Amino acid sequence: MEESWKEKLKEAPISRIMKVAYENRVLIPAFNVAYLPMVKAIMRALEELETFALLEVSRPDITRFGAESLRAVKEEYDHHGDLALSRLHQDHVPVIDEEGKEVDWKALIEEALALGYHSVMIDGSRLSLEENIRVTREVVALAHSQGVAVEAELGSVLGHEKGPLPPYEELFRSGQGFTSPEDARHFVQETGVDWLSVAIGNIHGAITGAAKDQKKVEARLNIEHLQRIAQLTGIPLVLHGGSGIKKEYVLEAIKNGITKINVGTEVRQAYEKGLGKNSIVKEAQEETVKRVKELITDYYEIKGSAHILSKNL
Ligand code: G3H
Ligand code: ZN
Repeated sequence: MEESWKEKLKEAPISRIMKVAYENRVLIPAFNVAYLPMVKAIMRALEELETFALLEVSRPDITRFGAESLRAVKEEYDHHGDLALSRLHQDHVPVIDEEGKEVDWKALIEEALALGYHSVMIDGSRLSLEENIRVTREVVALAHSQGVAVEAELGSVLGHEKGPLPPYEELFRSGQGFTSPEDARHFVQETGVDWLSVAIGNIHGAITGAAKDQKKVEARLNIEHLQRIAQLTGIPLVLHGGSGIKKEYVLEAIKNGITKINVGTEVRQAYEKGLGKNSIVKEAQEETVKRVKELITDYYEIKGSAHILSKNL
């Protein structure tokens, strides 16, 4: 018979698991699947460390890297995934994309729901507050009617757009694009969203040009700003651009309401490094397992988190 901690996690909806994580200040990392064989590798790391995480796929993972399609990732997850240690999340469905183009967001959300994704993210962060509320509310109604959790974004987590970012120090000091705590309160109240992605100094790793292969700038976080957002929202908060943030800030953020961290660039780069010139998938998977295990153990310090979550469900 299956151990009972596994049974409990398998049966709980992800909205409940995230709530328990939020209340107990346990981090749930969300690893982007930029290439299909990463699913098996990430799962192996989670199994070996008995740690709970999300596997997620964004549009750029599909259009710019090797995730192929929402369906392909779901099939790979059905094959290798384990609900005792993970769920599958649709990352960043933008209303306006990183090139300024309109996206048929509704079709993408509907596709993920039909495929059986456990949670979805609508990203209306390039819209006005009122438009972002309108679209997010529509997604919440649609997803909740099928028992699926919704993440939304408020503020600007820059970095996916083409061209150079303003100097990081300037960005951090000025608070440009930071989520307004007052707007966040209003947004959460009006939309009924489950989780909110916030901008507090975090930036996305590049997905185009030479920068996508380089090390990201080491970001910091404005913890006082995060505390103000957390006080006014009371729901699990999400930190995008998780690669390369200074460790002490991440640990402090977890104590102050960050429940999910999205990690793309550094795990993708580990996979690509392993793949090397000869495209050896096995090596790429080994590098992925190694990097994910390092992140879990040394960086987030959440080895064995599945037990804590299960106990508090
Ligand atoms: O949604 C994806 C994440 O925000 C990834 O950010 O590539 O900087 O780790 P990152
Ligand atoms: Zn992101």
